[in-house]
Amino acid sequence: MLRTHTCGELRAAHIGQSVTISGWVDTYRDHSGVLFVDLRDRYGKTQVVFAPEGGQDNLAAAKNLRSEFVISVSGTVAPRPEGTVNPKLPTGEIEVRAQRLEILNRSATPPFQPTSKDLPGEDLRLKHRYIDLRRPEMQRTIMLRHRMVKIMRDYFDELDFVDVETPVLGRSTPEGARDYLVPSRVQPGTFYALPQSPQLYKQILMIAGYDRYVQVARCFRDEDLRADRQPEFTQLDLEMAFVTSEDVIGVIDGLMARLVKQVLGEELSLPLPRMLYDEAMERFGHDAPDLRFGMELIDVTDLAKESEFRVFRAAADAGGRVRGINAKGAASQYSRKNIDDLTAWIMQDFAAKGLVWFKVEAGGKLASPSAKNFSESLLTRIAEKMAAEAGDLLLFVADSFEITCKALYGLRKRFGAELKLYDPSRKHFSWVVEFPMFAFDEEEKGWAAMHHPFTAPRPQDRELLATDPGKCRAQAYDLVVNGYEAGGGTIRIHDQGLQQEVFRLLGIDAGQAQERFGFLLDALRYGAPPHGGIALGIDRLVMLFGRQDNIREVIAFPKTQRATDLMTGAPGEVGMKQLRELSIKLDR
Ligand code: AMO
Ligand code: AMP
Repeated sequence: MLRTHTCGELRAAHIGQSVTISGWVDTYRDHSGVLFVDLRDRYGKTQVVFAPEGGQDNLAAAKNLRSEFVISVSGTVAPRPEGTVNPKLPTGEIEVRAQRLEILNRSATPPFQPTSKDLPGEDLRLKHRYIDLRRPEMQRTIMLRHRMVKIMRDYFDELDFVDVETPVLGRSTPEGARDYLVPSRVQPGTFYALPQSPQLYKQILMIAGYDRYVQVARCFRDEDLRADRQPEFTQLDLEMAFVTSEDVIGVIDGLMARLVKQVLGEELSLPLPRMLYDEAMERFGHDAPDLRFGMELIDVTDLAKESEFRVFRAAADAGGRVRGINAKGAASQYSRKNIDDLTAWIMQDFAAKGLVWFKVEAGGKLASPSAKNFSESLLTRIAEKMAAEAGDLLLFVADSFEITCKALYGLRKRFGAELKLYDPSRKHFSWVVEFPMFAFDEEEKGWAAMHHPFTAPRPQDRELLATDPGKCRAQAYDLVVNGYEAGGGTIRIHDQGLQQEVFRLLGIDAGQAQERFGFLLDALRYGAPPHGGIALGIDRLVMLFGRQDNIREVIAFPKTQRATDLMTGAPGEVGMKQLRELSIKLDR
């Protein structure tokens, strides 16, 4: 070993010992002929002193040290002189008096200092990720990720789950995003699809008798990227046989409690709260509501019907809804201009037609340019329904149910952050359950699976498949943490007849079903046990536990918004020879 200790290890108890430490030069200061170097590795920092007593040669060599040089230093651990102890640093009581210096490697001037307070732009960080990953904060996050995955693996091992690896080169899987394709050289014109999830393999493992499967699985989805999405990401993927939704939820409840306990040192009270999908949409306008604060959506459609206000009447009469939120005490914080900006934003981003607002004045009177459209008594009843008090800001959207959901969810989320309605360090875990089986796709004029086509309906809804598929609810459950979908799963269909009925509804005919998922349909004929499972987004969970707001911060080598890797330059062009081997001609 080129060291006896790490740079984070030495304490007062080591005083007098001869040690060797190795690492990167973090900072160096020349104090009238004595050189102080902070030596850094992932364990911490140690102050090294080069003084004439340690040898003139060493001192002279030390003068050539620069940031990020890799060195090895042997010397004696000594107490820091009176008044120079650094209580903020775990190694702050001691220093290493150097007697030998070896420069293991030099460094070009780094594009930024890993321990500088000022972070450079993200592009520079991603291009030189090896420097960025030296930053203590990055290292903490990468270590947190390691620990969380370790806790997960141990937990499932204790519960008799078997870790099975599933292929990366496979057939298209049904998660609904675009596939990444890999051309086959051996069979020109054919392609593998990278898995969007191990969904079909894990179901087949249940049929194969491995009744508890788990995998830390890479998944690939070619979709529009956001702060919480990467084109390749990692799932904690699991599947269980002979279970109901309760069993799967129970296992994940236990995992969350363990993570919270071991990572945050807090107790999580179980079972985690649950909400029906329909209730989540009604109260929060979203299937992954942030439950760290209230500000629920309130329906005033009945009152709107009584008004003469064109905007409200039109939506109500067309079978839509008029709903609002009460931003408590926010009236004075939002000027006319601010509200105009909010209006423009929800029109642009959520296709809302506008925003009606009222400021609640002393005495409870609602003031707004729109107030003239309402009778006094109606305004009073609206105020009552909204639990309005002086100083509140009321905002209403009149539209289809879907648009009121989206726009008010957007507003609620924004107010939550802007008005600081929650403690950002708090974590709130809950389940949203019983999602609809299908959503109507207006473009395709047909039903689409809300989760994926292997999801089982609730037993009591089976008849609805034939009569009213839109009302049919699934045995589906999503784990929600602080307004993020952290995981999702379902009980699967294990009956071939039911599976075919669902395919029919989704407009997948027998031929297509056979072509795309034939292997699963075949397998279902050979003794498939009842089964179900879930996948958690590991990146998202680490992001939430590590209090990051961007998924790229918790991935060692992430991709940008444009799905490129700035360090390696992927995706890159390939030569003609490679293309010819793959029988591919480029159309450009
Ligand atoms: P689903 O598609 O809901 O379910 O994915 C499960 C979880 O994976 C995470 N996730 C992502 N994280 C980062 N970037 C992405 N692009 C991304 N997409 C999804 C989310 C999500 O909750 N096979 C099913 C699971 C099952 O039914 O068992 C599946 O993949 O946290
Ligand atoms: P208009 O008469 O179209 O100028 O709209 C009057 C007010 O109603 C404006 O504040 C608009 O932003 C708002 N508004 C218009 N349509 C809607 C709607 N569908 N829901 C909520 N507010 C609306």
